[in-house]
Amino acid sequence: MDMRAAVAALVEKGIRAAFPDAEVPADIGGMLEVPPERAMGDFAFPCFRLSRTLRMAPPMIASRLCQNINDPDTARVECVGGYLNFFFNRGNFARGTLEAILASPGKWGSSGEGAGKTVCMDYSSINIAKRFHIGHLSTTVIGNSLMRIYKFLGWNTVGINHLGDWGTQFGKMIAAYKRWGDKKTVEEGGIDEMTRLYQRFNAEAKNDPSMDDEGRAWFKKIEEGDSEALEIFHWFKDVTLKDAMRVYDILGVHFDSYAGESFYADKTGAVVKELEEKGLLKDSDGAKVVDLDEYGMPPCLILKSDGATLYHTRDLAAALYRKKTYDFSKCLYIVAYQQDLHFRQLFKVLELMGYPWAADQMKHVSFGMVSYEGQALSTRDGVMIYLDELLTRAQEKALAIINEKSPNLENKEEVARQVGVGAVVYSTLQNNRIKDIDFRWDRALNFDGETGPYVQYTFARCSSVLRKAPASLACPDWNALSDDDSQYLLRLMSRFPEAVADACDKDEPSIVTRAVTEIAKAYNKFYYENRVLDEDPGVAAARVALTKACADVIRTGLYLIGLEAPERM
Ligand code: ARG
Repeated sequence: MDMRAAVAALVEKGIRAAFPDAEVPADIGGMLEVPPERAMGDFAFPCFRLSRTLRMAPPMIASRLCQNINDPDTARVECVGGYLNFFFNRGNFARGTLEAILASPGKWGSSGEGAGKTVCMDYSSINIAKRFHIGHLSTTVIGNSLMRIYKFLGWNTVGINHLGDWGTQFGKMIAAYKRWGDKKTVEEGGIDEMTRLYQRFNAEAKNDPSMDDEGRAWFKKIEEGDSEALEIFHWFKDVTLKDAMRVYDILGVHFDSYAGESFYADKTGAVVKELEEKGLLKDSDGAKVVDLDEYGMPPCLILKSDGATLYHTRDLAAALYRKKTYDFSKCLYIVAYQQDLHFRQLFKVLELMGYPWAADQMKHVSFGMVSYEGQALSTRDGVMIYLDELLTRAQEKALAIINEKSPNLENKEEVARQVGVGAVVYSTLQNNRIKDIDFRWDRALNFDGETGPYVQYTFARCSSVLRKAPASLACPDWNALSDDDSQYLLRLMSRFPEAVADACDKDEPSIVTRAVTEIAKAYNKFYYENRVLDEDPGVAAARVALTKACADVIRTGLYLIGLEAPERM
C-alpha cells in the first residue's frame, strides 16, 4: 500500500474542497515530509508553498484543510502551525501494507519503469594475466548489484566484462614464455606462473634492450593474427578467465559479454578515420590527439607515433559498438574514480563527434579507492589481498562459527559459503560507493553488528518462526500490529520500493543495503517485544503475516545486493 500516494490524495481532496479556485500543486506526494519524531505523525504536509499562491498565512491554510479532510480509515489529521500532521490508521495501514507485499511474493519494490529500455553495464572488467584482487572487488559487486536492481525495475540489462586484454605487455609475456616457459608449468602454476615469467622478462630486459623488441615483435604478431601468437594469447586468456570464473561463480556474478579491448582491435581503424573526417585529430609530436584544451582537459590520445592505438581509442570503438548493437538508453561504467579524467575525455570526444547521447546516456559510476591497512595496493610491494584468498578465509570463518553454534545443520558447507560471501559483499556495499575503503580483515570478516550475516540471520529467524506457525491460521486481527515496533517495521517495509528506486536513480546499491539492514533491525526489535505465535489466533495470524512479509522483503533486499538468504544457519 502506497501511503504517500494515499495521503497525497487526501491533501488534494482537501485543497479542492477548501479552495475550489486554487491550483493544486502537481507533486503533493513529493511535498510530504517525514516528521523527525514519531509523535508528530507519519507524514506532514507543509503549507508554506501554498501560502504564496493563496495569499494566506500557512497556519490558516492548515486549519482550513484540516476541516476538509475526513478519512479516518486512512489517517487522522491534526494541524500544528503551518503543518498538517497525518497519523495513519494503524490497523488499516498494517493490513494494506501486508496484503500488498504478500500478494506477489518476491516482487515488492519491483516495477516496470524500465520497460523497453536497455542499460549496458561495464563492470568488473579485469585485466588478463593478473590475479583477481580486491582492487576489482568493488566494481564487481557494485555492478552485480546494479544489474539486479535495474532488472528488478524492468530494464533490459547487458552486463559487459570489458577485459583488459590488449597491449604490448602481452607480447612480452609470449616472448617470456617462448624463452623460459612450458605448457605444463603454466597450466599448473596459472596466473602466478605467468606473472613470474613476465617479471623475469622485465628484469632481464633492463640489461638487454633488444628483448623489448622481441616483445614488440610478438605483439605485432598478435595484431596481425599470427596463429602461434594468437594461440598462446588465447590460452593465457583462458587461464585467467578460468580463475576469475571461480570467483564469479562463488559471488553469483554473470556477464552477457566478455568483449574486451582486443575485441575492438579491428574496430579502431574506423574510429580513427571518422575522427579524421570530422576534423578532430591533431598532430602532436607524431602522435594523433583530440585537443580538449577548450574544455579544461588534457588532450585525448588516439594514436601513438608508431601508429598503435590506446585505451581511449578502444573505448571509443566500444562505445559506438555498444550503441549500435544494444541501442542502450544508458551505458554505465563501474570504474574507480582514478579513471575520472579518462571517462570525461571519452564522453567529450564522443560528443564532439556529434553523438549527443554521450552526454546524457553515458555515466561513469565511480567508487573510492581500496587500500590495505592504510597502504595503497601494490603487487610489487606485497600489499595485496587476492579475492579467492579473501573468500576462502570468509567461508572458513563462517564454517567454524556454524560448527560451534549449529553443529547439526545439514548443509553446513553451503551455508558457510553463503554467509562468508555475504560478509565480504555486504562490507563492500555498506557505504556510499564514492567513499574510500581501507580494507581490514577483521571488518570484512565481521559477522556481528550491522553486517551481511546479521541480516541473513534475521531472515533465518523469520523462516524459523514461519516453520513453527500452524498451517492454517485465523483471520488476522490487524489492530494487533498497532504497537510502535510493529508500525515502525511496517513503515520501513512500505518504503522499501522507494529505496530501490532511489538506488537505481543514483546508481547507489548502499541505499538498498541500508534499507534492508534497518528492516532487519526493526524485525528483531519487534521479535523481542512480541510473541509471534500468541495464544490469540487473530493476533498470531497478524504477526505471522508480518513475519512472512518481512522475510520476503529481506530476501529481496539481500538478493538485490548480491547476497543469498539461507533459511537455516
Ligand atoms: N580494465 C580496466 C582496469 O582494470 C577497467 C576497464 C573499465 N572499462 C572500460 N570500458 N574502460 O582498470
